Amino acid sequence: MKFETAAGTNPIDQMKVVGRAHDRIDGPLKTSGLAPYAYEQHDIPNVAYGHIVGSSVAKGRISSIDTAAAKAAPGVIAVVTAADAGKLGKGKNNTAKLLAGPDVDHYHQAVAVVVAETFEQARAAAALVRVDYARGKGRFDLTEALKTAPLVGGSGGPNSGEQAVDRVGKFEEAFAAAPVKLDAEYHTPDHTHAMMEPHASIASWTGDELTLWTSNQMIAWSKRDVALTLNMPEEKVRLISPYIGGGFGGKLFVRADAIMAALGAKAAKRPVKIALPRPFIANNTTHRPATHQRIRLGAKKDGTITAIAHESGSGDLPDGGPETAVSQTKLLYAGENRMMAMRLAVLDLPEGNAMRAPGEAPGMMALEIAMDEMAEKLGMDPVAFRIKNDTQVDPEKPERKFSQRQLVRCLREGADRFGWNQRNAKPMQVRDGPWMVGMGVASAFRNHINTKSAARVRLGRDGTVTVETDMTDIGTGTYTIIAQTAGEMMGVPAEAVTVKLGDSSFPAAAGSGGQWGAANSTAGVYAACVKLRDQVAQRLGFNSADAVFESGQVKSGNRTASLKEAAAAGELTAEDHIEFGKLGDEWQLSTFGAHFVEVGVHAYTGVSRIRRMLAVCAAGRILNPKSARSQVIGAMTMGVGSALMEELAVDRRFGFFVNHDLASYEVPVHADIPHQEVVFLDEADDKANPMKAKGVGELGLCGVGAAVANAIYNATGVRIRDYPITLDKYL
Ligand code: MOS
Repeated sequence: MKFETAAGTNPIDQMKVVGRAHDRIDGPLKTSGLAPYAYEQHDIPNVAYGHIVGSSVAKGRISSIDTAAAKAAPGVIAVVTAADAGKLGKGKNNTAKLLAGPDVDHYHQAVAVVVAETFEQARAAAALVRVDYARGKGRFDLTEALKTAPLVGGSGGPNSGEQAVDRVGKFEEAFAAAPVKLDAEYHTPDHTHAMMEPHASIASWTGDELTLWTSNQMIAWSKRDVALTLNMPEEKVRLISPYIGGGFGGKLFVRADAIMAALGAKAAKRPVKIALPRPFIANNTTHRPATHQRIRLGAKKDGTITAIAHESGSGDLPDGGPETAVSQTKLLYAGENRMMAMRLAVLDLPEGNAMRAPGEAPGMMALEIAMDEMAEKLGMDPVAFRIKNDTQVDPEKPERKFSQRQLVRCLREGADRFGWNQRNAKPMQVRDGPWMVGMGVASAFRNHINTKSAARVRLGRDGTVTVETDMTDIGTGTYTIIAQTAGEMMGVPAEAVTVKLGDSSFPAAAGSGGQWGAANSTAGVYAACVKLRDQVAQRLGFNSADAVFESGQVKSGNRTASLKEAAAAGELTAEDHIEFGKLGDEWQLSTFGAHFVEVGVHAYTGVSRIRRMLAVCAAGRILNPKSARSQVIGAMTMGVGSALMEELAVDRRFGFFVNHDLASYEVPVHADIPHQEVVFLDEADDKANPMKAKGVGELGLCGVGAAVANAIYNATGVRIRDYPITLDKYL
């Protein structure tokens, strides 16, 4: 089905099943330990254990590998290095190779896998693999590397061919002439995903066919990349990923656990399972690159922005890409004269890649502090300053309108609900015992992306509905919203729908990433259900145009039949996908919100505590208010992490991330987050898709870090532009 417009009504608008706060279908399975995660597929016989040996240098060449002692160790079945693996290719979404040799591109890049009868034997033998390196000179210092880094285009690496600097009007002149200006630099550090479930895979070969049970967000991408890496036809690869314990962007791609399990299983002639140990993840997999950002704002005395520039620099391995931190600044506020640019340095640190609103989150962490600073310079309330500079069109392409943009309403409603009028604009005025108390605000803003998504729907002879799609549920609630969608379309409760996800033998869906999963995958299910409804109506001899599906019945004119009757002559199956025409080019599809945060900073120790948080979001139709709220409070929690705690410490001598475990890479826990409230405005975006829905997951993260920083400034009068805001930075 090609989506042109959802103007008018469709069966989803009934909102009998969709739009209800439905508990997550997978919840009991997950909380009781019954959901089989990748490492826990217990019904695979004869599984051996793999353990990866990671490079102990960041850059250089392997001069020799001695595997003799490992091969002779108890229980060892096979040892695989690049020398034994045959020629490997590279997946489209991988920057660095997943098996090093002879060159090493980054610290902890896999150099070998040891397969043994038990996990302990594999790990012990892995320690016996002797690798000698000729260590090369690496580049590990972002500040240094940015001095000579070239400009890069919008979304790709240095060769993306896009125009490197976005300009509208004459920024420099307008900025020079502005009566009020800000010119400030902001730093965000490297981040690691820190998802609960580590990357894990079980590989099993049947002849030349490979099955991988793996923890992965994007089944179709990853199936392709496994095939490219192992130089085999895509049809011979099957990925199965029904339950995923968090991804955060770290599992958008195929990583070494999958490839080394496949190579190990081939050598061992047995299925092999590998989970990346926690201390391996920060350096073996991908991370969010650090940024150095400069923001310049010029405004008239009445608060109208006349000049806005955002420049960001980040680093990555050769052929990698930038952290696209300027992307939201292109669209968020009006201003006639604009300039956005990115620089990309080559660094020999582990691979930089997508993590939790890649680009948008760190970009908004800088921009939304800058807006707070500028409001103060203007003597304006920061809510009023943002409202003053709202735009209903793309500031770079004024003919392009937002399909919906309720930023102003989010800010106003948030201010009312939060008690913003209680805030003292002058910092350091409010005390609660030893705590200095402050409030901060930031806009939230994340685009919505349309992407093709397919599904198959079956009506069984017993009247039950089954959905099959390779869509994933990374803890977001996909099972539930897909059941709700099919339930609404077929006129049955969500409980009557069986949802099967995460298997590459099912039709290829949008996958989970970039907050595109919910709206696109359900739109694909909608498309398949439209076809299935036609088949049902046809079987019953009903006119499908006026057929109404509700309560397990199909009604047309004065005739009624049950779904069961329709299926009695044999089950019905329909498969379709949603795809998008030029509508998405005509309208800018985005989601908006406003974050309000109250913090306390301890006057004697400098410890920061979040006291309460509120997000007001406008993101199209909310398919399930309960799972959507969970997405947003999770994202707000990540925002607190990025504001106050999260930082990979770089060893600039040897080129690796030092704090590679959850003892030293700190993330917020429940006790750090006392009170969160989420409000969704009532919206339905008929320019987006037939569900009239958009994404919410990453919206909840974009901006919230800056709201925390702004609250800390309001509490203490200290403006910290270098995340995370740890207590040493008050000194
Ligand atoms: Mo998200 S960083 O696109 O999984």
